[in-house]
Amino acid sequence: MHIRPLYILLLGAASVTTHASPTPAILDDGHDLNQVPAFNVTNFEASAMVLSNRNFYKFDVTFYHEATPVHCEAMGTTINHQLTSIPQTWCPGPGGSGYGGNGTGNNNNQSNSNSNSSATTGPGVSFKWTEQPDGSAALLIVRRINDKAADTAVYKVTPDCIPMMGDDIFRHQVYEGPENFSVPAYRSSESG
Ligand SMILES: *[C@@H]1O[C@H](CO)[C@@H](O)[C@H](O)[C@H]1NC(C)=O
Ligand SMILES: *[C@@H]1O[C@H](CO)[C@@H](O)[C@H](O)[C@H]1NC(C)=O
Ligand SMILES: *[C@@H]1O[C@H](CO)[C@@H](O)[C@H](O)[C@H]1NC(C)=O
Ligand SMILES: *[C@@H]1O[C@H](CO)[C@@H](O)[C@H](O)[C@H]1NC(C)=O
Ligand SMILES: *[C@@H]1O[C@H](CO)[C@@H](O)[C@H](O)[C@H]1NC(C)=O
Repeated sequence: MHIRPLYILLLGAASVTTHASPTPAILDDGHDLNQVPAFNVTNFEASAMVLSNRNFYKFDVTFYHEATPVHCEAMGTTINHQLTSIPQTWCPGPGGSGYGGNGTGNNNNQSNSNSNSSATTGPGVSFKWTEQPDGSAALLIVRRINDKAADTAVYKVTPDCIPMMGDDIFRHQVYEGPENFSVPAYRSSESG
């Protein structure tokens, strides 16, 4: 519901750029006010295993003002040695609960990684890998701040970054893009 007024505000701001009236919706550098510091992903790996019906995804993600990365990983099942979509999976760990590292404590009952836990509210970090029909994929990382607000970053993976490698029985899909990258993140809040 709050999206529409914000959108109109943004449109309004765009059409009056010549009148230097300050607008709360867009910062000087053109960034959306909802933008938060980028999520830094390190050690990203995704691969189908050779001679196996499993695939795996793993990475560390560091948030603004936090020294300790949160480790995320998931395994999937594949019938053709390719990467597959992975449902939302919680990333356990000390930094995985709570905003700003401190305070919010360890109230994360949600570290169970069944896909229904996406309905869980409260602090926590989760991710999801989605295969697209065009052969690309998207890594979604969500950092839930509380039951009303979350920061979300989406890293798009082009098909050339996830080639099939190896011959014959060793053929399997592997992520070949950078292992470290930074993903722009945005805050969304559900208005009560
Ligand atoms: C990626 O980041 C990790 C952790 O900071 C570091 O150990 C590694 O050398 C980096 N890799 C590259 C290619 O920069
Ligand atoms: C991400 O990495 C960049 C470049 O290394 C750094 O300037 C920035 O502070 C980092 N951000 C976080 C959230 O760690
Ligand atoms: C985090 O908690 C520690 C120990 O309780 C405390 O000393 C520190 O000041 C807290 N940091 C923040 C940013 O609240
Ligand atoms: C969460 O954990 C607390 C304490 O461990 C427990 O009392 C509570 O029932 C749990 N809630 C859910 C929804 O599992
Ligand atoms: C999981 O979510 C699905 C779809 O929302 C729902 O139908 C199902 O009952 C849920 N299962 C549990 C155990 O909550």
